[in-house]
Amino acid sequence: MAGRTVVITDKATGKSVECPVLEGTYGAPVIDSRPLARELGMFVHDIGFGATSACRSAITYLDGDQGILLHRGYPIEQLAENSSFTEVAYLLIHGELPNARQMSEWDHSIKMHTMTHEHVNTFYQGYRYDAHPMSMLQGVVGALASFYHEPQTDYRHDTDHLLTARRVIGKMPNLASKCYRYSNGLPFVYPDNSRSYVENFMYMMFSWPTEPYHPNPTAVRALDLLFILHADHEQNASTSTVRLAGSSENNPFACISAGIATLWGKAHGGANEAVVHMLEEIGSPANVRKYVDRAKDKNDNYRLMGFGHRVYKNYDPRAKIIRKVCHELLTELSLDQPMFEVALELENIALKDDYFIERKLYPNVDFYSGIIYRALKIPMNMFTPMFALARSTGWIAQWIELMEDEDFRIGRPRQLYVGSERRDYVPVAERSGA
Ligand code: CMC
Repeated sequence: MAGRTVVITDKATGKSVECPVLEGTYGAPVIDSRPLARELGMFVHDIGFGATSACRSAITYLDGDQGILLHRGYPIEQLAENSSFTEVAYLLIHGELPNARQMSEWDHSIKMHTMTHEHVNTFYQGYRYDAHPMSMLQGVVGALASFYHEPQTDYRHDTDHLLTARRVIGKMPNLASKCYRYSNGLPFVYPDNSRSYVENFMYMMFSWPTEPYHPNPTAVRALDLLFILHADHEQNASTSTVRLAGSSENNPFACISAGIATLWGKAHGGANEAVVHMLEEIGSPANVRKYVDRAKDKNDNYRLMGFGHRVYKNYDPRAKIIRKVCHELLTELSLDQPMFEVALELENIALKDDYFIERKLYPNVDFYSGIIYRALKIPMNMFTPMFALARSTGWIAQWIELMEDEDFRIGRPRQLYVGSERRDYVPVAERSGA
């Protein structure tokens, strides 16, 4: 509704301020709270940004109550069913689905950026033999900033944003696969651009220099699907980090590296690895109840990994798709996965339990993805790098949107200061206890 406002009154002083209400295509209206600071000298306090809109975005919409996820208006279920990862990347970045010519040009243009400068390979040698791949990935992606950097670049106006996107999307599989190869003492494999995006990634990960490599098409399709489901997810912690880093008009590779750092934690992308550790520890469906009880115990910090979400208060639509694919994949590859049985039992018990019902805790995207990665023989510590690989398309789409935003400003949150009052410096000899 045009002209809608909210009036906020400070009862202590009787002063009021009128704040505009902004309406998007969907979702909760937002209050433009800037008049609060200007006219009342007050800020909004919102730890964890649970009630704060930090930008306008036309890329992804999610409705946590209904369990809806749209990319550029297209439901995730339709993209998962019909699209490919590189097509979804095109959609996120360009805003529209490509026609056949645009798609083939896009695929070709990404392939033109699958190589990295040869010196990039030397960065890996500096890591400990047992380094976590996320630490390597964060480092080498940050290092790419030094290969694509002009000190005075105006990233908003003077750079080719699409070229940046193609570089990021093209190089991520190469960089991520080298983390795995280095950890395992395997030689790095150059990309083979005759292969599709996902097949090329698998080739760089798993091929031997001595043998031909033909990945299982079922595995390629499953991985492509997982990449689609991880491609973007609105203003989550890592995406917001990329935007905040970008708001200082910084090198995009440095921004993506900051996003990787944020994604790593177990409350975010690191949950996919944590889920598999948890399922392994549980071991058998018979033990599930004990772990559910631990997660409910307020004296125990234990949480069920892969459960709960800040925004989804319903089944995460991505988890629904992954659960189904998990079933199909295990059957198709004739794999016996006791871990899947444990996961199903855990979901079954938790979803009937009052603790989880009251708090609206449902399985999230990370709950089943690890089981699929495992079935595809992807090592556990590579699960989160896989997430980072796919999410880098969303990060770069959001970075471009930020760079091209007319309302661009450096991000600068405020705070509620609760420290000492002003006091004078005391020389060390005069301090008490001297
Ligand atoms: N197991 C048990 N209890 C939980 C869980 C869980 N996984 N998640 C939330 N709760 C409880 C929590 O203890 C709290 O209870 P109470 O109201 O009695 O204090 C209530 O539910 C609300 O939790 P919260 O921590 O305030 O919720 P949040 O929005 O700040 O956190 C979350 C969201 C995803 C960090 C959290 O649910 C969690 O830690 N989940 C497990 C880790 C995980 O699966 N992360 C992946 C998230 S989705 C993919 C991604 O972002 O990468």
